This record gives sequence, structure tokens and C-alpha cells, in this order.
Amino acid sequence: MSAILPPSERLWIKHPIDRVEGTWIVIALTWCLIMFAMMVGWHIWGTQNLSTETYRTTPEKFTAAAQAMVDKYTVRTETDQKTPVVAPPPGSDVYLLARLWNFWPILELEKGKTYRLHLTAMDYNHGFSLQPANINIQMVPGFEHVVTVTPNQSGQYSIVCNEFCGIGHHQMVGRLYVK
Ligand code: CUA
Repeated sequence: MSAILPPSERLWIKHPIDRVEGTWIVIALTWCLIMFAMMVGWHIWGTQNLSTETYRTTPEKFTAAAQAMVDKYTVRTETDQKTPVVAPPPGSDVYLLARLWNFWPILELEKGKTYRLHLTAMDYNHGFSLQPANINIQMVPGFEHVVTVTPNQSGQYSIVCNEFCGIGHHQMVGRLYVK
């Protein structure tokens, strides 16, 4: 058989399998299964695989919840836009929204305390990239990701948008404090 002439037996399924080809199929299949098992295993043993809950939401519903938290627990304002810095009590539900082109509000959490962090986007897809911890979550309009977080290091963190969201994408940076 050559690559120029058509094969004598036109049905490829009837060709005998070469030993090398068979070996590679077995190697590839085994590797696929290992990779698949790693996805599950890494979720259990990896340190940065978040178990998120997801719910449907609307900008109105989410804004109302975030506004209620801001009204109750704002401790000061920062930046030129007078962004509220909110220090909600440990164990509470904490809301952070993304929109063109900022994160709102600024959160101030306590080290070693657990919070339920709710994330959504008001308009387009945005990214929640917590630096320098390098935790990455998508912020998707219409959906609310709930992540249970227990900050283990105090300091000032930056939240960087890592989904391209237009002309102001590179300036879309938020702030998070851990006391
Ligand atoms: Cu928001 Cu990029």
C-alpha cells in the first residue's frame, strides 16, 4: 500500500492494527484516564481548587444585597470614587460585584475568620483574580458564585480583572484587606 494508490481494502476498520499503533492507543488512553482521575483528585488534594456554589441572580437582586451590607457595615471610604470599605462580621455573607470597570465595594475581612463570599458581574464577564494569592474565579452576569473563604494571611490584596472586558479592562483593579 502507498499513500498515492488507494488501499486495496477500503474499509479502514477491517485493516489489521499495527503493534506500534496499538501501543500508542493504549498509552494515550491510559494517559487520558490518569488526567481524568487527576481532575477529581486535584480538587480534593490541591490547595487552590475552590468548591463553589452557583445560583442564578439578577443585577437588581444582587445590588440590593450588596447595598444592604454596605449600608450596615461601612467603616470608611477610599479612592477618588469614595468607594466604601466594608467590614462585615465574621461568618456573614459578603458581596462583591464587578462592573465596567471596577469592583465594588472594598472588603475588609478578619484573618482566621470564615465568610461566604458572593460574586457576580453586573454587565459582562469579568474575572476575580486575587493577587498575590493567585486565586481565580469567573464573575459571570446572571450567576452568583458563592465561595467559602477563610483568609489565613493579613495584608492588602489586589483583585485584578482577568477577563478582557473592554477599553478599561487594564484599569479594573479592586482592593481587599485582611486584618
Ligand atoms: Cu473586567 Cu476585564
